[in-house]
Amino acid sequence: MKTKAGHTIAVEDLTQAQAKAELKRLAQEIAEHDERYYQHDAPTVSDADYDALRIRNNEIEARFPALVRPDSPSARVGAKPARGFAKLRHAVPMLSLDNAFSEQDVTDFVDRIRRFLRLAADEPIAFTAEPKIDGLSLSLRYQDGELVSGATRGDGLEGEDVTANVKTLEDIPKQLEGRRVPARCDIRGEVYMTKSAFLKLNERQKAADKQVFANPRNSAAGSLRQLDPSITASRPLGFFAYAWGEMSELPAETQSGMLDWFARAGFKTNPLMKRCGSVEELLAFHHEIELKRGALDYDIDGVVYKVDRLDWQERLGFVSRTPRWAVAHKFPAEKATTVVRDIEIQVGRTGALTPVAKLEPVTVGGVVVQNATLHNADEIARLDVRIGDTVTVQRAGDVIPQVLGVIEEKRPHDAKPFHFPTKCPCSLHTPVVRDVTATGEEGAVARCSGEFACPHQRMEHLRHFVSRRAFDIEGLGEKQIALFYENEWVTEPADIFTLEARNNKIKLEEYEGFGETSVRNLFNAIDARREISLERFIYALGIRHVGETTAQALARGYGTWDAFHDAARAVATGDADARTDMDALDQIGDTVIDSIAAYFGERHNVKKVEQLAAHVTILDAERPRADSAVAGKTVVFTGSLEKMTRDEAKAMAERLGAKVAGSVSKKTDIVVAGPGAGSKLAKAKEFGVEVLDEDEWLRRVGTR
Ligand code: IVH
Repeated sequence: MKTKAGHTIAVEDLTQAQAKAELKRLAQEIAEHDERYYQHDAPTVSDADYDALRIRNNEIEARFPALVRPDSPSARVGAKPARGFAKLRHAVPMLSLDNAFSEQDVTDFVDRIRRFLRLAADEPIAFTAEPKIDGLSLSLRYQDGELVSGATRGDGLEGEDVTANVKTLEDIPKQLEGRRVPARCDIRGEVYMTKSAFLKLNERQKAADKQVFANPRNSAAGSLRQLDPSITASRPLGFFAYAWGEMSELPAETQSGMLDWFARAGFKTNPLMKRCGSVEELLAFHHEIELKRGALDYDIDGVVYKVDRLDWQERLGFVSRTPRWAVAHKFPAEKATTVVRDIEIQVGRTGALTPVAKLEPVTVGGVVVQNATLHNADEIARLDVRIGDTVTVQRAGDVIPQVLGVIEEKRPHDAKPFHFPTKCPCSLHTPVVRDVTATGEEGAVARCSGEFACPHQRMEHLRHFVSRRAFDIEGLGEKQIALFYENEWVTEPADIFTLEARNNKIKLEEYEGFGETSVRNLFNAIDARREISLERFIYALGIRHVGETTAQALARGYGTWDAFHDAARAVATGDADARTDMDALDQIGDTVIDSIAAYFGERHNVKKVEQLAAHVTILDAERPRADSAVAGKTVVFTGSLEKMTRDEAKAMAERLGAKVAGSVSKKTDIVVAGPGAGSKLAKAKEFGVEVLDEDEWLRRVGTR
């Protein structure tokens, strides 16, 4: 509804008659757009404009519920299929921060930087220090100053496309202001909900019998990840800008200069940010913010220090997934006391039996805690924790709450000691065995010996397989996996991909919690994952000790599924060359190799993996910077370097797409040898590997 001057009338100013007329017009207009979009694949408006119409329609209906039309777009369930979120790939990955917990950690962080950059002890280093906001990170893409997309962090490489939702946030400019706006820029920062808004929202949710959130961060995430942007619009979300991704040009030369530019461009930046010049100043800032923490209206869980000079940031680079030039100095964990009601055993994906204390619910740092891990039998013995005991629990960030100790004065006379089971709680009751450590001693972990026959392990394995960082299949969460497993529709990963073909027998749509639409969406989501990156695939296999970073290193190292698969099977048969090659990969050592060998040495696993691989296309790994002279080459550094530290040299080589190995083998392409090089240089000569000195190397990579 517009005024004569052409302005849209705000929903709260509409009269009843105006609202009625506008709902009619919106129903018509949206129906026309739907037809053009769904039936003719020929939309005439952008997604954002379309969403704006639906948001306005919903807002008017919320104000005038009596006027909701029978043909209202909001009532047309399934007209706009709930597609989940599309994926958006980050042009520059979104990484996370390394943590510092003590003053010593902060000193070490600064010393490391000094060593890496070869700075004299008296050369000042400026840092920015700012609160670490406990929200969720977001990357916003601006093209010629205009907001074009917004994505969550996701797995760091690709996130969820929440463009329509971020456009409803007041703190996010749709158009960048000021001078020096680069043609292309990714602005990154944290979406958060204030503590007061969180409490109010939960009250409203409770009154409406809807989901209540555990803490402001979950509620911010839940509010942003809404398929209906009008829900996001109704939730008070804030945004602080603090970082960036791809920038066609950098408007400043320092971190603090970038924050100033963010502010000029129209963003909120955290007002507590301060420049510090020494460890003492950083620690004083940490202390100051910790004292202010309770009074702030947003949750923070530490402070972040960043090297101010961007040229130094560039040189410092990254170690796996965290920058060397920044650190998160966390606040100490929060603690509370409560009573242990019971101790239960959980069986994990690898068969490990973990005792969990079931607690009288208690609030620790704003979160209700009901479970705390007791780790293993030795820990129970060490703590001497008994059922009925009053205990101290601690929660730090995202980690599972822990039991710190027992308050013995409060032990009731009937407190019951816990006897660690000797049989797995699974239906097979298989004997529990203790791991054996490398030195042949009994390890702390007790495991069900049932392996893949153990239903707990199978189910945990499936859960891991579909989890967010693995196959990430929308609509296939823990609840669904449990149902599918109990009914034996899905007992191993490959079954997921034949589910649709078997559905004429299963008839999923007839089960509670499923309908035609959700079943269709589930099958679409499964189909979308028939193509998968190599690193996700390797991670999803659930090999012990192969987490995300290791999976990424393996994917990069081998490049293709066939190459990795061949190597893994060769390692499993004891092939020494294959083992040496795997060992030469960065970040891969004996523990990982033993684990891969054990996994691929199991017939059942090999069969399961092959069946699975037949259903999916595994994409070759992206090799970074294929255009550099050393991309894809395996390089070994030996001897001392003079122009840069070993770490810096290694980081530079990796940035240019080379693989840096620790030992020389037949597969090594280049050995960079400085003064004092010994056996590695000899080996290089023996294998006929090219040897460069430091200057030749720098010329080869074209930096000096
Ligand atoms: S800088 C390369 N600054 O903390 C990393 N992160 O553990 C750039 N966070 O994923 C991140 N406040 O979600 C940065 N002032 C701040 C932050 C901050 C919160 C979050 C962010 C990131 C996580 C890292």
